[in-house]
Amino acid sequence: MSQKRTAPKLLGMKGGDRVVCLTAYDFMSAQMADAAGVDLVLVGDSLGNVILGYETTIPVELEDVGYHVRAVKRGLKNALLVADLPFGSYQTGVEQAVDSAVYLMKCGAEAVKLEGDYPEAIEACVKAGIPVMGHVGFTPQSVHGFGGFKVQGRTGGDEILEVARRLSDAGAFGVVLELMPAELAGRITAAVECLTIGIGAGLECDGEIQVWHDVLGLSEHSFKHALRFVEGRGIFVEGLKDYVAGVRDRTFPGAENSF
Ligand code: KIV
Repeated sequence: MSQKRTAPKLLGMKGGDRVVCLTAYDFMSAQMADAAGVDLVLVGDSLGNVILGYETTIPVELEDVGYHVRAVKRGLKNALLVADLPFGSYQTGVEQAVDSAVYLMKCGAEAVKLEGDYPEAIEACVKAGIPVMGHVGFTPQSVHGFGGFKVQGRTGGDEILEVARRLSDAGAFGVVLELMPAELAGRITAAVECLTIGIGAGLECDGEIQVWHDVLGLSEHSFKHALRFVEGRGIFVEGLKDYVAGVRDRTFPGAENSF
């Protein structure tokens, strides 16, 4: 049986095996995520932070996401490829949302994700044949509205639940639940028909998503919602120091690296 993940196949996992999701931004990291058995790869607008070095995702352009989607597409065999609609590419209206989603699908995406309470945009994309994920709780494109990187739903969790329900009813096959109490994420998971994919939202979600650089310990900082499964940054810097030393002390290139 084909190992290729599709949006309907992943939706069929609701309440069963957990759906493992990870961001990736280039060809080789996509190959590695696929080899590890990741179900869904997101070209997240977090590329603004971890690839381009911005403090927020707000400056990320649709074309930036498209560029990385093309690279990731070439590296994936099995995982579903989802692309983020960046800030300013869907908020002005349904038509803009569909146009932006169509652009990312032409770049190679198999689904798109958008942040916030935009059920009409989701409905229109789904009508156009584009699977869509929503994203509620802490939505990074609204960081200035939230007044910083803050856990959401400690109070007023019911409003977040209602937004998630609207997105699910609009046809989203999944919704990311970011930075919210585990109890609220559990309630949302029980209340909606679509998949819930948590990040900083506890164990009750149907699946989990993390950022490539965080799980591999490449980021400078550690975050409470993430675990460094390997200390990649230290390993890479040590490797690079060995390279620098090898060039300087003339032990590299050796005879075996020469022609
Ligand atoms: O942009 C991103 O990487 C995301 C995930 C962290 C959910 O939206």
